[in-house]
Amino acid sequence: MVFKDIADILSRLEKTVFPLFENLRKEYDCKNYPDLSQTEYSSFFIGNVKINNPVISAPMAGISDNTYRIFARFFGSSLLYSEMVTSYGLFYKHSKSIEMTHATEFERPFTLQLFGAKPEIVADAASMVEDRAEIIDINMGCPVPKVIKTGSGGALLKDEELMKQIVRRARKSIKKPLTVKLRLGWDFDSVNIERTAMIAESEGADAIAVHARTVRQGYSGHADYSHISNLKKKIKIPVIISGDIHNPFKALRLLRNINCEGIMIGRAARGNPWIFAIILMGIILSDKKMSDENAADFLKKFEKDIDYFLNNDIKVKILILYLKSLILFIGEEKAVKEFRKILGWAFKGIRNITDIKKDFFKINTFSEAEKVMTGLIGM
Ligand SMILES: Cc1cc2nc3c(=O)[nH]c(=O)nc-3n(C[C@H](O)[C@H](O)[C@H](O)COP(=O)(O)O)c2cc1C
Repeated sequence: MVFKDIADILSRLEKTVFPLFENLRKEYDCKNYPDLSQTEYSSFFIGNVKINNPVISAPMAGISDNTYRIFARFFGSSLLYSEMVTSYGLFYKHSKSIEMTHATEFERPFTLQLFGAKPEIVADAASMVEDRAEIIDINMGCPVPKVIKTGSGGALLKDEELMKQIVRRARKSIKKPLTVKLRLGWDFDSVNIERTAMIAESEGADAIAVHARTVRQGYSGHADYSHISNLKKKIKIPVIISGDIHNPFKALRLLRNINCEGIMIGRAARGNPWIFAIILMGIILSDKKMSDENAADFLKKFEKDIDYFLNNDIKVKILILYLKSLILFIGEEKAVKEFRKILGWAFKGIRNITDIKKDFFKINTFSEAEKVMTGLIGM
């Protein structure tokens, strides 16, 4: 039932974005559009899992649910992550935690991210759920106080011996590829990304993702990629960079200069699932032979064209399908509440949005949402 309903949403999504890609096709040499989910370009492997292209959607608690992942994949994200799931919750079989491990066939390859501070619990939880995902990931970067207090997430960067034990035990307990998501270190005085990455590799991790901030930074300041550049020369497993990547040029610069295998998009994709397409197409279209300068000029024009073609009419239609998908998974009441935030992100920055935003918060049903959104067409 859900399979058929999602397939139907995706086929309508294809029709909705078709005019956008037709317009782009006239300007650029596009291939594989509008459904970008199979686009292959600079593919790489995480263990035995093929990652078709370097554009990857980030794990985000409270955001990267089934619908988010289905849309991210449609627009070209080559790897999807769950929200972080507590290993304790899985170990004690809490239904809410178990529910979070479910992904449909439209969300593959799927990385299931766990967090925890006890090697044996993380390892047991990983083996309990490994058949639900293509890859298991361990969160070693979360800065949220509730998580840090338990010694999990970013707190692990202060205890290299414990993080080593966690990777070691998890590696032994599962057959599927294992990855770790790190930050630069606990704070500026204790940046240890080179060591933690090398520990992860030597304990059998198949790739790492690095959010290029310290844990203490949270989301403030800017991502600093310089440490990753050094680290990339020291390890052999794939490196995925995360932090402040929101346009094709930035993505291209990191792929070229740091030689990382993947780049991860987080906040910029909230309410903007099409960003994966923009970044992926931008990277592919800026020919490998283009100098950085020419690529920058090219991508500026490309982004302008996208802004023009990806008008509010198309965005509204995409987001109505997004809401339909949310309703399928979590029911109308919860879906509509969730959707209010998404609208805010999607239409940030457009004229008169403050007045319309007030209406977003009054939406209680699908038809009310549809009505408010129709008002956005032509703005
Ligand atoms: C709301 C929110 C929730 C997040 N949840 C997770 C998470 O569950 N696991 C994780 O590894 N990182 C999580 N992150 C961090 C992102 O994956 C990403 O590394 C970070 O946001 C930096 O990338 P960005 O600048 O593209 O957003 C979260 C970030 C945000 C904003």
